[in-house]
Amino acid sequence: MNIAILGFGTVGTGVYEIIKKASRQTTNLSVKKILIRKNKKAELPEMTDSIEEILNDDDIDVVVEVIGGIEPAHQYILDALKHKKHVITANKAVIARHMDEFSSVAAENDVKFYFESSVGGGIPWIQGLERALRIDDVDSITGIFNGTSNFILDQMKKTGRSFSDVLLNAQQLGYAEADPSADIDGLDVANKLCISADIAYDIFVTPNDNLPIFGIRNISEEDIAHFTSKNLTVKLMGKSHQLGNEFDYVVEPTLCKAEAIEANVPDNYNVISLHGNTIGTLKFMGQGAGQFPTANAVIQDILDIYQEKEHLRREFHSNLKFNANLTKSDYV
Ligand code: HSE
Repeated sequence: MNIAILGFGTVGTGVYEIIKKASRQTTNLSVKKILIRKNKKAELPEMTDSIEEILNDDDIDVVVEVIGGIEPAHQYILDALKHKKHVITANKAVIARHMDEFSSVAAENDVKFYFESSVGGGIPWIQGLERALRIDDVDSITGIFNGTSNFILDQMKKTGRSFSDVLLNAQQLGYAEADPSADIDGLDVANKLCISADIAYDIFVTPNDNLPIFGIRNISEEDIAHFTSKNLTVKLMGKSHQLGNEFDYVVEPTLCKAEAIEANVPDNYNVISLHGNTIGTLKFMGQGAGQFPTANAVIQDILDIYQEKEHLRREFHSNLKFNANLTKSDYV
């Protein structure tokens, strides 16, 4: 199976390294091309600065988009789908805004569009959510969705260090985005919450829809010490609930009691919960940021395509859902 990786930053390099170093390659994955920026020197034989070269290469089966941001990622994903290549992306910003478009263009071209790594890093969250939806209505999605902010708050509490000091550390560890403002101001959480809630409720809400989004930039060492003295821990959380035809979304720093699972999520970990009508509450926990956990989830998607193993993806919900009774027309 031949793969092209668009973008060679933290995640792209991780995908390349895991595939290159795999000692047990039953699937024969091969990275054939890597798209790099125009002004960058090609350091590997696979590297090219031409997207057309990748799109027009009939041997490439899967395009992994890890450039990040909206454009040109949005256009490249559409072009790759239209060239009948399966697309996998870790890019939550572009999915949160264009998931519907990507899903329908993928269906029109009979190819897959998978994005497990976009929410929760290495946690099999999208897969877990989709499995829950085969049987249940899911009426809430809540959790810690951002590894960088969790790392910062955890380190501030454990070490008493300042916000800016531990942010630098999160960047060095490869958790933060190139521009970390999305991590600390809540937009990254909003992207991931919208992707998850869109799947859960089968509606399409984006972070641009006036969602209340608050970050952690102004939380000081003194605030953390005060919360600790009250046996509380502050975490940046995304929360969404469905009540009848009403939906609410918020991203905000939240005080958790010491015994709550969320209060005890360390380092770059995420914990994401869903509530379904028969399954009750399910919580998914693992490394939500970082090169190899995220690359692992990308490769899981590649292997799913390779094995033609159908997770229940969004476009198939209506066929298999037991009690689907809510469509966009019900609440608009
Ligand atoms: N910057 C993101 C985070 C990476 O810290 O969670 C994973 O999406």
